[in-house]
Amino acid sequence: MNNKIKKIIDKKNKSKLVCLTAYSKNIAEIIDKHTDIILVGDSLGSVLYNYNTTRKVDLNMMIEHTKSVRMGVKKSLLVIDLPFNTYRNKSEALNNSKKVIQETKCDAVKIEGGTRVKHIVSYLVKHNIPVLGHIGITPQTVKGKFKSKGKTETEKKKLIRDAKALEESGAFGIVLECIYGDISKKITNLINIPTIGIGASVNCDGQVLVTDDILGLTNAKIKFVKKYINIKKVINSAVLKFKKEVKSGKYPTKKYSY
Ligand code: KIV
Repeated sequence: MNNKIKKIIDKKNKSKLVCLTAYSKNIAEIIDKHTDIILVGDSLGSVLYNYNTTRKVDLNMMIEHTKSVRMGVKKSLLVIDLPFNTYRNKSEALNNSKKVIQETKCDAVKIEGGTRVKHIVSYLVKHNIPVLGHIGITPQTVKGKFKSKGKTETEKKKLIRDAKALEESGAFGIVLECIYGDISKKITNLINIPTIGIGASVNCDGQVLVTDDILGLTNAKIKFVKKYINIKKVINSAVLKFKKEVKSGKYPTKKYSY
C-alpha cells in the first residue's frame, strides 16, 4: 500500500476526512490546501454538461478533466471516477484503471457498487490500483428517482454486506451516498477503512460534496447540500463592473495598456 493511501486510512478515528470534487485546475488549486481527497466525479456530467444521467459520461471526458485537475493538486489524494460501462469485468476495469492512472497521474479510482463489484475491486487491488468504493445511492445504476437507503431491514443488511465486501476486497475507503444516519454509524464502526459520507450524516469518517454546489454555482436543491457562498452573485458583480467600465471607456486605463 502506498504512503498516501496509508495516510488516508490512518485518519480513521483521528481526524475527519475532507473531500470535494474538482473538474478543473483553477478550482483544484484553491481547494487542495484544505482537502484530504479531491475527486474528479462523474457528477461533472450533470454539473458541467447538463446530462440527465452520469451514464453519458465517458472515459475520455474523465481523463481530460482529471489532467486539468492534476495540474492544481499538490497534496490531496486525487481520485477519478471510473464512468459507467468502463469496469464491466476484471480485465476491462484493470485496463481502464491503468489507462487513467497513466494518462492523468491520479492516485486512485472510484467505482460504484458493493458485493456486485467485489471481484473487480480485489482484482484491481491485487494489481496495485487503489480503489475507493461507493455504496448507497449509486447514480450510474439507479433506476427511477434517487431515494435514500437504509430504511428497511433488507436495505440495512445489504448495505452492511456491501461495506464488508468492499473492505474485504481491499478498498481503502467507501463513499456512503444518501444513507440513514443510524446505518452510516453502524457501517463506520464495523469496518476499519474510512467512510466518506454524502447525505449520510455526521456519523461518517469524512464528508464529500460537489464543490460547485457548496459555492452556489449550481441550482442544486438537495437536502444534504449546504451552500457556503453565493459565488454567482460575486461573479455577477465583477462582470457587471467590467461591462460598465468597457461601455464608459474607463477600462483599459494606461496601466492596463501597452
Ligand atoms: O460523481 C461524484 O461527484 C460523486 C460524489 C458526489 C461522491 O460520486
